[in-house]
Amino acid sequence: MSIKIIDGKAIAADLKKEIAAQVAAMIDAENEAPHLAAIIVGEDAASQTYVASKERACHEVGITSTIYRMPAVASEKELIEMVDFLNNDPDIDGFIVQLPLPEHIDANKIIERIDPAKDVDGFHPRNIGLMQLGLPTYLPATPFGIVELLKRSNVKVNGKHVVVLGRSNIVGTPVSVLLSRKSEYGNATVTLCHSQTENLEEITKQADILIAAIGKPQFVKASMVKKGAVVIDVGIHRIEDITTEKGYRLVGDVDFDDVVSEAGRITPVPGGVGPMTIVALLHNTLIASKKEIYK
Ligand code: GUN
Repeated sequence: MSIKIIDGKAIAADLKKEIAAQVAAMIDAENEAPHLAAIIVGEDAASQTYVASKERACHEVGITSTIYRMPAVASEKELIEMVDFLNNDPDIDGFIVQLPLPEHIDANKIIERIDPAKDVDGFHPRNIGLMQLGLPTYLPATPFGIVELLKRSNVKVNGKHVVVLGRSNIVGTPVSVLLSRKSEYGNATVTLCHSQTENLEEITKQADILIAAIGKPQFVKASMVKKGAVVIDVGIHRIEDITTEKGYRLVGDVDFDDVVSEAGRITPVPGGVGPMTIVALLHNTLIASKKEIYK
């Protein structure tokens, strides 16, 4: 693959090797392997796929994983009881509640119930607060993945103009906090754009690093990108394509074929940010098991 492409699959594989080595060292020192649990409520197809890939990734690096399945009709109270059970189980280092949850369950209430020390998704308000303050915590998966991709591709962020498209709680907002804060890999000037932003193209064209996390297929066109910019595509969408065997193909928030000639570096979809997000969860589970953050 050309040097221009930021190969998330290869970078994720490197990180996985590093995590596997640390897990092996823990086991050699007669410690238990880290243990991640996932609660999944209902039968949402995408969630089943995500949880299966998380389980596979755990297996690859020697992390123990357990999935707790609950029916779609499970009540909020039953889910809270399950969260409390995992909060109190000393064998579980960290766990996640796979989202989305059925509509009758208040996801915020569930997230707040998770013991912050076991919140390896980094979704608990306390962990979000620690991140905002620049204190050690579990970083949410996608922002962690983006930062590691940039770092490991030797992209300089200090003093650069980063434009983030999308202000979601799990991607746009936290990644803008991470890259703008005063830290070893931060100090960028960040502009956070969203659905109400005026003159969007004028702003995106100023970006040295453009991060697209708006959830709109192929939204970013070449006309929005400065020559030589680094383009990070967080989106993943299925679009119909009758020329493929499956009848669809995966695209991101960036129109890759249009933008690739303008960009200096670019992440593909699939194989860019996606593979990094699961590694983030493995990383957080490892640090949870070492009690590095909540001692
Ligand atoms: N659903 C989609 N992505 C995620 C994630 O990172 N964590 C959880 N818990 N649910 C998700």
